[in-house]
Amino acid sequence: MRLIFVGPPGAGKGTQAKVICDKYGIPQVSTGDMLRAAKKEGRLPAELIQKMDAGGLVPDEVVIDLIRRRIEEPDAVSGFLLDGFPRTVPQAEALGELLASKGQRLNGVIALTVDKNLLMERAVLRRTDKRTGQIYHLKYKPPPPDADLEHRADDHEDKVRNRIDVYERMTADLLPFYEKAGMLERVDGVGEVAEVTQRVLAAIEKRK
Ligand code: AP5
Repeated sequence: MRLIFVGPPGAGKGTQAKVICDKYGIPQVSTGDMLRAAKKEGRLPAELIQKMDAGGLVPDEVVIDLIRRRIEEPDAVSGFLLDGFPRTVPQAEALGELLASKGQRLNGVIALTVDKNLLMERAVLRRTDKRTGQIYHLKYKPPPPDADLEHRADDHEDKVRNRIDVYERMTADLLPFYEKAGMLERVDGVGEVAEVTQRVLAAIEKRK
């Protein structure tokens, strides 16, 4: 199973990806998580940290290289879920070439749709447990008292606004790209997490 999750910031890609990856036994490949890990370990150049923290995109060649290396790892050979990649048409084209060179194909692209006014609340009140990576929400999924919480640098209101704007200018173009290729499944991302999961699973079943 090779899947892509696309959607604006706070749409629920990471939340849903964890459930789907457990179910299908495939790795969640999140370029956002990989970049944040590189930042934490001091491996991310200062100009890229600045870009990310402000809510902009890092250059295509940086993330394409990350993905090229990640999907060659043994756990990804028979499948993966790409969460947050591709985000631009050149990234999607590079992924297409990469998969073709390995004789692999994508099953489908799941686009999570959520109203803009909900996205801000979802992102600004998100907290992540530093130890487990578990995603919480101060209103919808309150963390346990012993969680070691982190508030992402790009989850402050002005940064989230910029991320939504960047999504609309740069990533939304991917939807017609994959629609034309017959790969796109739009899934309503509003509702209880479990309800959204059922919709995502139904969309994936169509692509098997
Ligand atoms: P990335 O980490 O990918 O961030 P994002 O795409 O902005 O997505 P988010 O992580 O904000 O949201 P999500 O959709 O995963 O939502 P979540 O499930 O957490 O990227 C970060 C940065 O890295 C980018 O800005 C860029 O700089 C760089 N980058 C990454 N990839 C790149 C690429 N390919 N090219 C260039 N640059 C790249 O949910 C959000 C909150 O809502 C949580 O609190 C959750 O508990 C809650 N929630 C989820 N679902 C529900 C629900 N159904 N009901 C109520 N609450 C819910």
